Amino acid sequence: MNLVLLGPPGAGKGTQAKRLRESLGIVQLSTGDMLRAEVASDSDLGRRAKDIMEAGDLVPDDLIVAMISGRIDQDDCKGGFILDGFPRTTPQAEALDGMLKEKGLVIDYAIEIRVDDEAMVKRITGRFTCARCGAGYHDEFQRPQADGVCDKCGGGEFTRRADDNAETVRTRLKAYHEQTAPIVSYYEKKGLMKGVDGMASIDEVTRQLNRIVG
Ligand code: AP5
Repeated sequence: MNLVLLGPPGAGKGTQAKRLRESLGIVQLSTGDMLRAEVASDSDLGRRAKDIMEAGDLVPDDLIVAMISGRIDQDDCKGGFILDGFPRTTPQAEALDGMLKEKGLVIDYAIEIRVDDEAMVKRITGRFTCARCGAGYHDEFQRPQADGVCDKCGGGEFTRRADDNAETVRTRLKAYHEQTAPIVSYYEKKGLMKGVDGMASIDEVTRQLNRIVG
C-alpha cells in the first residue's frame, strides 16, 4: 500500500506515519527527515536547504523531486510506503504522479490530518525527539514514561529541531495554506482523498487511520 499523509506542521504526520509503518510493515518516507539528514551531513543539498528550512519556507521542487524519486527506487520501498511531508506543492504532486506511472505504482489513499492552526504552535514548540532512535515526544501530550529516558531505546539524550519555534511555525503554516492545501482538491478530483480529525488524541487518530487503511 502506498499512502500520502497531508497536514500542516504539527498535525501529527510523523507521529502517525511511524505507527502506520509498524502496523502495515511499510516504509515511512519523510522529506523533512531526509532533508535534516542532508543538513547534518553538510552535503551540497543540505547546504542549499539549511537556511530555507530554518526560515520555514519550502525547499525548491526540483531538489525535492529528485531526492524522493531516488528513494522510492530503493528495495525497501517495494512493499509500500507512506509519504510524510511530500508532495507539498501542486508541481510536486504532478511530478509524483509522473514518477509513479514510470515505475508502475499508484497512490492508494491521500489522507489529510485536519487540525486548528492555533493548537499547532503549542504542539510544535513542545516537541522533542530521542537523539538515538528518533522516537517523538511532547512536553505535555506525549512524555516518556520515565523523565529523561526514551521509552523505545532507553536513550537519555533528546533533541529539538532548529525550526521548532513560534515565529518559524507561523511561516510554515502560511506556506502550508498557500502552497500545500490546494493539493487536497487535487487528490479529491482523483477520488483518493480521505480525512481524519487530527484534534483528537494520538490513539484516536491512529484508530481513524486504521479504519481507512485496514
Ligand atoms: P517537515 O519535517 O515535513 O515538517 P512539517 O511539515 O512542518 O511537519 P512537522 O514534522 O513539524 O509536524 P508533524 O505533522 O510531523 O507533527 P508530529 O507528528 O511531529 O518539514 C520541515 C521543513 O523541511 C519544511 O518547513 C521545509 O522547509 C522542508 N521540506 C520538507 N518537505 C518538503 C517538501 N516536500 N517540499 C519543500 N520543502 C520541504 O507532531 C508534533 C507534536 O505534536 C509532537 O510532539 C507529537 O507528540 C504531538 N502530537 C501529535 N499528534 C498529536 C495529537 N493528536 N494530540 C496531541 N499531540 C499530538
